[in-house]
Amino acid sequence: MNLQHIAIENFRNHSSTSIDCSPGVNLFLGNNGEGKTNILEGISYFCLAKSFYETSDLIVTKIGESGFSAKGTILSDGGVGYEIKISFDRISNQKTITVNNSKIDKASILIGWFPAVILSPEQSAITFGSPTDRRKFIDFVLCQSSRKYLENLIDYRRVLKQRNKILVDMQTLRSNNKDAIEPWNENLVKIGSIIIKKRKEFIEDFHETIVDAYTKISGLYEQPRIIYSPSVESAENKEEIVEELFLKALNSQYLEEQRLGYTIVGPHRDEFIFRINDLDVKNFASQGQHKTFLVALKLAEFFYLKSQCNETPVLLLDDVLSELDKNRCNKLIEAAAGTGQVFITSTNDHALDGLSDVTSNLRKFYVKEGRIERFEDTAKIN
Ligand SMILES: Nc1ncnc2c1ncn2[C@@H]1O[C@H](COP(=O)(O)OP(=O)(O)OP(=O)(O)O)[C@@H](O)[C@H]1O
Ligand SMILES: [Mg+2]
Repeated sequence: MNLQHIAIENFRNHSSTSIDCSPGVNLFLGNNGEGKTNILEGISYFCLAKSFYETSDLIVTKIGESGFSAKGTILSDGGVGYEIKISFDRISNQKTITVNNSKIDKASILIGWFPAVILSPEQSAITFGSPTDRRKFIDFVLCQSSRKYLENLIDYRRVLKQRNKILVDMQTLRSNNKDAIEPWNENLVKIGSIIIKKRKEFIEDFHETIVDAYTKISGLYEQPRIIYSPSVESAENKEEIVEELFLKALNSQYLEEQRLGYTIVGPHRDEFIFRINDLDVKNFASQGQHKTFLVALKLAEFFYLKSQCNETPVLLLDDVLSELDKNRCNKLIEAAAGTGQVFITSTNDHALDGLSDVTSNLRKFYVKEGRIERFEDTAKIN
């Protein structure tokens, strides 16, 4: 896809910012706090219906204003034009999404339609952080690439919440109401097993993509691997078999769950282990290897989504071109810019110097106090 135009209003520190994008690389430059990241956040709104930060629509609304809007004009790979508009009204606390002026009921409909890959400093949690951070990453890729998976995940979270509520009630009332929990067990097992099966298939499919990406980024002969360690282990990836084992595990943990007041078995407890040459990244990798793994994951995500969604994602790189990451990120930018569009923030005007393939299609935007002061196209000089 090609993001042709961005318009954000009363969005963070931007009153009204309008941007004609380059089909290649768009570099947002300026001092700290001028509003560069806010532009990428605006893009994430119309691609994902929300911020890539875990923040609320209320916080995103420019202080003192009654709501915001973020609008993107997009040309799909298939040549179809879309105008997506997200508006938020703080009085009614309502978010409205329109695609080509038609209202969309559920924000989830947007997910996967206009895929985006995001790399920002917070994302280092994917390799350094907890199992939750890794699950979030895998779910983010899967949700954008499969509507069915997204729906299953939403359902699973709803059932889990209900089941946990019953467990909490049992804990506070010191009751043992097995009849109340049984229908929720059935739902949890049914939907949970579909999620486990899909995650297993995904990790197998993704393997080659991550190996290719890792080689491109590091140029080294190191073997990256992602190992899926589900909370319900099964030798065979068949739904009925997973269901049976899942139910068995739930039954055996029932007393413990009752004591704790929450569900301890199921895909919400799955772990994904990242390895380089059979050593866990989390425990053994060097700082550089962590970074290589993360950037390779992002490149793999880019190509995986491109093939699964039949749409080239946009790549959003926030503040990642520091000296340490520059070499790896340059490889990511070159690979993505070869087929798609990239949006980068930096405080350094020379951040992309030396990337001759990229500068042929580079537009630099100078951001100051929540507006674009000027822009310039950097033509390739032969
Ligand atoms: N809801 C809001 N209303 C008004 N201003 C806001 C709002 N939220 C954040 N800001 C302002 O936006 C600015 C931060 O913008 P942003 O994060 O895009 O900066 P940046 O250019 O990416 O800076 P850095 O280089 O430090 O990352 C801050 O000055 C902050 O006060
Ligand atoms: Mg920033």
